[in-house]
Amino acid sequence: MANAIAYISRDTDGLHWKRILSDAFGPIDFRTLDSLGDTAAIEIALAWKPPRGLLASFRNLKLIVSLGMGVDHLLADDQLPEGVPIVRIMDDGLVGQMSEYAIYWALRHHRDIDKYAESQRKKEWKPLDFVDTLHRRVGVMGLGTIGQDTAKKFAMLGFPTAGWSRTARTLDGIETFHGADGLQKFLARSDILVAVLPLTRNTRGLLDAKAFAALPRGAYFINMARGPLVEDDALLAALASGQLSGAALDVFNQEPLPADHPYWTHPKVHVTPHIAGATNPRTASPGIIENIKRLRSGRELINRVDPRTGY
Ligand code: GLV
Repeated sequence: MANAIAYISRDTDGLHWKRILSDAFGPIDFRTLDSLGDTAAIEIALAWKPPRGLLASFRNLKLIVSLGMGVDHLLADDQLPEGVPIVRIMDDGLVGQMSEYAIYWALRHHRDIDKYAESQRKKEWKPLDFVDTLHRRVGVMGLGTIGQDTAKKFAMLGFPTAGWSRTARTLDGIETFHGADGLQKFLARSDILVAVLPLTRNTRGLLDAKAFAALPRGAYFINMARGPLVEDDALLAALASGQLSGAALDVFNQEPLPADHPYWTHPKVHVTPHIAGATNPRTASPGIIENIKRLRSGRELINRVDPRTGY
């Protein structure tokens, strides 16, 4: 009987997952990329950026669990086994980290912290004019679980906050826009733009020259979603022209960000290495355990991914 659980990722050794799953299920047959053994025994794969075609070679695979909330890393595999359900983690810990990330950079920009750091270096006591929070409009692009949490927290801080999503959504206290028609209007009112969209064929390259031009002059951009949402040349041009006053980027078209990439040394860009929301086994595991129980007792799975929409 296939009942092994395989951890398919090079990010960590996966032993914390082994511990969490053994606590829940007793001794388990746990495999990693370096100890796959007879793959016919693998029932469940916990995956982050699996090598192309690998999951298709597990012939008794019953469930694929995405270890990221984003699933583009899985759907990039054009040989995914058909008919094997995909679920993704829902991780409150990760969600909270993501909103912290956006709020941190937004406040740092909003309160001119980098300018004051520069003044401190020059020993200059120089209070600057400030922008009233009520006049700093935040736009959150993507209103899934993370986008909603982020938007609500910005609204709680008093920022006029709007959200944009592919299909219409309503959210208390948040102005919402949707679809191609709503995009320009949404961008035109976003002094701080936070990208938290999934990467799908509809969102790839969505943040192009036209999108940056639609923002108010001097807008600030935070990308904590996926690098390929952005056309880098367009972003660099918008920074150079002053259309954008700065950007905080956690994700990139190529990761790790190549050493010669202009973002590394750009005076208006902050770079972090895809850490805005790290999967936290403590908060991600209850949903995974629940899904394994559901799978094994033939019940409906939760947090299912629809490969057609890409999330
Ligand atoms: C991280 O990038 C994730 O998708 O969870």
